[in-house]
Amino acid sequence: MTLLDARQLVTKKVSELKNRVDKLRKKPSLVIIRIGEDFASGKYVANKIKKCEEVGIDSKIIHLDENIKQSEVEKIILDLNKNKDVTGVLLQLPIPKHLDEDYLTNLIEDEKDVDGFTIGNMGRLSLNLDGNVACTPRGIMTLLKEFNIQIEGKDVLIINRSNIVGKPLAQLFLKENATVTIAHSKTKNLKDKIVSSDIVVTAIGKANFLRAEDFSNNTTIIDVSINFNEEGKMCGDVSKEDYNIIVNDKQCNLTPVPNGVGQMTVIELIEQTIEIAEKGEIK
Ligand code: GUN
Repeated sequence: MTLLDARQLVTKKVSELKNRVDKLRKKPSLVIIRIGEDFASGKYVANKIKKCEEVGIDSKIIHLDENIKQSEVEKIILDLNKNKDVTGVLLQLPIPKHLDEDYLTNLIEDEKDVDGFTIGNMGRLSLNLDGNVACTPRGIMTLLKEFNIQIEGKDVLIINRSNIVGKPLAQLFLKENATVTIAHSKTKNLKDKIVSSDIVVTAIGKANFLRAEDFSNNTTIIDVSINFNEEGKMCGDVSKEDYNIIVNDKQCNLTPVPNGVGQMTVIELIEQTIEIAEKGEIK
């Protein structure tokens, strides 16, 4: 089967999105709030800004000191909510421990919540109503559709129960009529569940946690994790040494790390920003 490399799809989407931006009266604009110096966050934010430039939408980083007071962040978010020149607002997570992540995330107006993380948007997703949807789950569904992977009726195992990945993704798979299991650190007999699933989504965060022997033939494996191995190289949960066996001998589909889900998260974020702008112009 196939390595589900996202790069061609991303290139195609960049040119489609450029055309959609050209049709808008006003250029969409994305504001990213970053607090502190978390190294990975710095990289993710840089990737998001770069993609905004490629597609031709405006973007801005508000980089705040790690000791900033909650009330100051609150004021910044409320001002962005009011600002008519701002299409989308994103609070890059994680944020320093003295700040209330749930509270601050929820201050972002639902319509400007490009991450789909607010109570309103998560609620809409659970109720099958239109709203903004978390970008990594969105990206996974887009990638599966691009490669014509059947979802309806399939047994899907999601090894992650976070608000960012596991929970919204479960909703999207349910919407497509899959049978969904969510596994987590207290799940019993995880390996048995992996072997009996048609689609396995892993966001465990441990390099080399999964090997070729863990999967049945013909499984579709979505590796969401971004880990760094001992040599500092980016890798997912699935051992790179086994890619060949997994794809060629076991006939599985597998998203590579890098160039898999991570790329999709960024392009979906830009697409969602453009969607918000389009809806705003129709009103
Ligand atoms: N941290 C890790 N992934 C994400 C994401 O998709 N959005 C935000 N805001 N923070 C993150």
